[in-house]
Amino acid sequence: AHFVTQGKPPLTGMPSTRVQSPSESTTLSVHLIDSVAEAELILHYTLFERHNVIARRAELINRGEHPLRINRFMSLSLDLMDRDWEWMQFSGDWIRERKPYTRPLTPGIQSVGSRRGASSAQHNPFVILKRPHTTEDEGDAIGLSLIYSGNFTTVAEVDSNNQTRFMTGIHPEGFSWTLMPQDTFSTPEALLSYSQKGLGQLSRQFHDVFRKQLMPSKWLVDPRPILINSWESTYFDFTEDKLLILAKEAAKVGIELFVLDDGWFGKRSDDTCGLGDWHANTTKLPSGISGLAEKIEGLGLKFGLWIEPEMINAGTGLFALHPDWVISDPSRPPCQARNQYVLDFSRPEVVEEIFIQLTHVLDTASIHSLKWDMNRNMTDHFSRGLPPDRQGELSHRYILGVYSLYEKLTKRYPDLLIESCSAGGGRFDPGMLSFAPQTWTSDNTDAISRLHIQYGTSFAYPLCTMGSHVSASPNHQVLRHTSLKTRGDVAFFGTFGYELDLTLLSLEEMTLIKAQIAFFKTHRDLIHSGDFYRLLSPFESHNETAWMVVSKDGSTALLAWYQILAEPNQGLFTLKLKGLDPHALYAVSGSADVSSGSLLMEWGLLLRPSFNGIHLSGDPVGDFQSRIWVLTKVE
Ligand code: DGJ
Repeated sequence: AHFVTQGKPPLTGMPSTRVQSPSESTTLSVHLIDSVAEAELILHYTLFERHNVIARRAELINRGEHPLRINRFMSLSLDLMDRDWEWMQFSGDWIRERKPYTRPLTPGIQSVGSRRGASSAQHNPFVILKRPHTTEDEGDAIGLSLIYSGNFTTVAEVDSNNQTRFMTGIHPEGFSWTLMPQDTFSTPEALLSYSQKGLGQLSRQFHDVFRKQLMPSKWLVDPRPILINSWESTYFDFTEDKLLILAKEAAKVGIELFVLDDGWFGKRSDDTCGLGDWHANTTKLPSGISGLAEKIEGLGLKFGLWIEPEMINAGTGLFALHPDWVISDPSRPPCQARNQYVLDFSRPEVVEEIFIQLTHVLDTASIHSLKWDMNRNMTDHFSRGLPPDRQGELSHRYILGVYSLYEKLTKRYPDLLIESCSAGGGRFDPGMLSFAPQTWTSDNTDAISRLHIQYGTSFAYPLCTMGSHVSASPNHQVLRHTSLKTRGDVAFFGTFGYELDLTLLSLEEMTLIKAQIAFFKTHRDLIHSGDFYRLLSPFESHNETAWMVVSKDGSTALLAWYQILAEPNQGLFTLKLKGLDPHALYAVSGSADVSSGSLLMEWGLLLRPSFNGIHLSGDPVGDFQSRIWVLTKVE
């Protein structure tokens, strides 16, 4: 049987796209019966009124009298009639996340996935199939995204007839599920989108559906605060006084939110201890979190706090009480990573304890935001909460536990802004975005590395999801020196903030920061809600990157161009813009002339009017340069 209904059937316990009113979407539900297995399979396909996207998930109901065992259950499967496609994945590691890799499909299976208990920095649950000739602006492209933060696989299998099957879902390796009579198992939801107009259009389709149908709607409307994060300015070494001095400087330049990162709780003085004891370290913070938050608010800033709720250190009060709450095989000593263990979030009592601890902090202090970190992956897969023959359920139950804590927190504190993080971008996925509208993109804060990381991330995710901060120079990860201007010009294209010791800066630098903040406040809405266009790829040109954001009505645009190394006498070069109204005239900042949208898109904006040795004032010189233009439609 099949049914067509307005709206979407709810998916409980897991994030999925949401609709405000049933008229925003239509769902086809196909019910299939397997009379041998005595099971009912329901396939849900949702179409959105305003998005070129299909959401698909599946449910299995045990209609028999005996338990059923599920070993593999994909969320979406699409059959294509040929194999003339290229596979594009987004892969990397810590501090080098989401680099695009493209290769032609070949007979057999090609796949990416994660078995780390998190979607991972190694591979993103987003893959594109594109025609070999497809570019940013032309040609077919199909994107597949899984709304899930745990173990996943995305597969393209080319069979001997040259047909291609494109699939995504929970990674079957290490997974199994015992489905008791009358119980239902639901897969995560997958999103499929197709563009005939290249990769750029495909990305914008995903950006729109993530912004409009997935992320918490409050954060579509409310501006994301410009923040200062304490991590790269103090690391673990801070006192209340030191933080207040930093906050005072932040307030002077117009920063809106102060985020206290790792180190505020338990006996935390380095990364060997403290996780699991979520109460203030009163040696560092004599007035506790509530006192500190109050003082920060007194300076005119909102206050945010770092947590890593899924983890535990030995030597904590929680560990002394519940050593068996660690994910570990009882017959072996468990492995540590970053000196910590993973808490068994597949057990509701573990999630509940952490929730209670966090409510004590959140109920007693004025906390505007949380940064939720997760710094190690799962090993020693064994839960004492599950019988031996159901250990295959652990990874999925773990991520359901993570989602349940998100759910409880966001229900109780609906105004809380959460930034997700996993040692940077190790869990940058749509599952997280449905609770936490921004993700710390990478622990690599170097502006030049960030060109690559933010460019790669933009294939799936909109700018308003990408945490991007101006940090110190030389940079702490790659030791590169870049100008404050270039660092700002890169960080503007995300959820903007600062992560450096402002007390060490000169008056001139503080004046520039003040101007950057004023600039960002003027253009924040455009950056976060506009259409993003990639112009020059750092992966292809190697020396240049360019991108722009255009407001939905085409009236304003922000264009950025970055040059990595200085080159002598490069000659003239025009940068072709995108997304403008071809019939309109635009004023381009820095020039008295107006140009038509069609001229700017077909001919381009003239760059590099000078060569080394003869500089027009204002021209970028030297390595690691950037320029930004504001384009405004002239009535
Ligand atoms: C990893 C995060 O990505 C950093 O920003 C910082 O929060 C550290 N963890 C703190 O331990």
